[in-house]
Amino acid sequence: EMAEKSGFPHFMLKEIHEQPSAVRDAIHGNREMVRSVAEEIAKYEKVIFVAMGTSYHAALVGKYLFQRLAKKVPLVEEASEFRYEFEDLVDENTLVIAITQSGETADTLAAMKLAKRKGARVLAIVNVVGSMATRIADLTLYTHAGPEIGVAATKTYTTQLTVLTMLAIETARALGSADEEYLRSLEKQLDSIPVLIEKALSHGEALKELAESLRDRRDFFYVGRGISFPTALEGALKLKEISYIHAEGLSAGELKHGPLALLEKGVPVVAIAPSGKTFDKMMGNIEEARARGAMIIALSDREEVGRISDVWIEMPELDELLTPIVYVVPLQLMAYHLAVLRGNDPDKPRNLAKSVTVE
Ligand code: G6P
Repeated sequence: EMAEKSGFPHFMLKEIHEQPSAVRDAIHGNREMVRSVAEEIAKYEKVIFVAMGTSYHAALVGKYLFQRLAKKVPLVEEASEFRYEFEDLVDENTLVIAITQSGETADTLAAMKLAKRKGARVLAIVNVVGSMATRIADLTLYTHAGPEIGVAATKTYTTQLTVLTMLAIETARALGSADEEYLRSLEKQLDSIPVLIEKALSHGEALKELAESLRDRRDFFYVGRGISFPTALEGALKLKEISYIHAEGLSAGELKHGPLALLEKGVPVVAIAPSGKTFDKMMGNIEEARARGAMIIALSDREEVGRISDVWIEMPELDELLTPIVYVVPLQLMAYHLAVLRGNDPDKPRNLAKSVTVE
């Protein structure tokens, strides 16, 4: 087993480190396919993402990407809810995009089958070749992440985000909804992501030390705005899944509508704060939390965030739309180290399964 882990103590850590090459493979593996699929997407007025768990967070990022680039407003539904709410809302003018690493999640498969029955077209974004989702779907794009053994999704998530970014760019191109120069610059930046993930991985030791100082905390809050909101959700999910620490992912704008009441001295607040549309507001949200004594752990490319934070994890400068792929990496590492320090097996968290094949 040690050989399969290529010298890493756990599959999860190995898979976190495989992300630069996984993202590279996702880009190369989809270059040809993505244009024709995007031309399909461009034809549909109604686009609905369905997914569960980490794949659901990828779908949320997808929504922001399509809004910004393709000027389309897709719906995002948990597959488990879709089945009950969308029966009468799906028809032959609907495109359903199912995102599922395993291609075997029961709720997602059931949503796909319902969509097909109602005459919708179904696109699947899947990692496991030949899985059930690929057999139900009309069209499939693969994430090319390679096998993922750790129960908590890591490289399958960043490759899902990669494929969604490529799709949104090509859909924008097909619709003429964004400036070509800008789309090219995004593609160029996407090509540089593997290198930027390498850099994020180099924070590994510092994140381990940080985890040591946080190992006995009971509650964590992860906050972000706009396209960083799903990153906050995913960071919190990673922590819950493997470290068994209570964590909430929040849209930072919601802080003052309730969660601020929970902040006391020393409570860790992980702030996802890249440059972009919501940066100034995010600075305000960090100040709000800091004023209540929270311990601010900030991920940002901007030094001014570093100045108002207890811990600053410096991130590379990047178009805001691409930040989710890189910013999640330190959050994965922090969750991993906390899990190990607390004596848990991060590869096999209690009560959870790699793919949930019951509804
Ligand atoms: C399980 C796994 C998660 C995963 C979710 C959806 O809960 O533990 O890591 O995100 O299922 O899985 P899928 O294979 O559909 O992406």
